[in-house]
Amino acid sequence: MSTTLERPEGAAADWTIDQGWDAYTPEEHQTWLTLYDRQASVLPGRAADAFIHGLEALDLRGQGIPDFRRISERLQKLTGWSVVAVPGLVPDDVFFDHLANRRFPAGNFIRAASQLDYLQEPDVFHDVYGHVPMLTDPVFADYMAAYGQGGLRAMGSGQLHQLARLYWYTVEFGLMNTAGGLRIYGAGIVSSRAESIFALEDPSPNRLGFDLERVMRTLYRIDDFQQVYFVINSLDQLLADTLQDFGPLYARLKAAPDLPVDAILPTDRVITRGTQAYAHGKQQAAE
Ligand code: PHE
Ligand code: FE
Repeated sequence: MSTTLERPEGAAADWTIDQGWDAYTPEEHQTWLTLYDRQASVLPGRAADAFIHGLEALDLRGQGIPDFRRISERLQKLTGWSVVAVPGLVPDDVFFDHLANRRFPAGNFIRAASQLDYLQEPDVFHDVYGHVPMLTDPVFADYMAAYGQGGLRAMGSGQLHQLARLYWYTVEFGLMNTAGGLRIYGAGIVSSRAESIFALEDPSPNRLGFDLERVMRTLYRIDDFQQVYFVINSLDQLLADTLQDFGPLYARLKAAPDLPVDAILPTDRVITRGTQAYAHGKQQAAE
């Protein structure tokens, strides 16, 4: 998401392009399979049931990088969503308009085989493997569409930076409480082998109960593992909490100071009080 992008030649007014599925090389398909199989070895028992079911329902391993036409056909039947190809990041209003209309914009390129863990921009593995399985869940599907509408509204009131934190701490880095323990549903985590383990098992990060207003005040980092994860009790709860009119919330948030990534407030429901050892170690190494 960004507002200073220029639409590449060949992209439609809504920034979509042809996926160009026939042009993927055998090496690129192999990169998908390698990444898929790495995640298959860490996600059972860590990823939320809805995510695992979504992978299966869409047959996302397949023979390599999925054809968006094929997964859209299945997804349409399940929740009315489809996947459209875009060249990379798209402007905020374009992004939200796609979501509000149940189209998930996904990058069509894949990372280099020599850089499996390095991403400058979200690629097809992050976008499709990470995001699309959850869109098979009817409640999450509704949440994402509502978020798109909410995004257009937040742009109008100048509070998009606060709504963007909700996306970050749920859609990208969300954890869920289940009878079997904490599970991952955030795309930024499930598409990363290292963070899939870190987010659940490392003693470093804080894990706090999800609170909408609290989340929308919390800064986030885009350069490394998160220092805090917010834990929802269920997707139903997430949707119920966010379907309310955000008008009064935005009014309160205007005057509310931002919270640093490692803050723990007296009002927080603390699930894990992190040591922050990982983040502090990185900081020292950099000094
Ligand atoms: N209910 C929010 C609003 O009134 C929109 C929204 C829904 C935002 C779901 C995020 C997720 O603006
Ligand atoms: Fe993402």
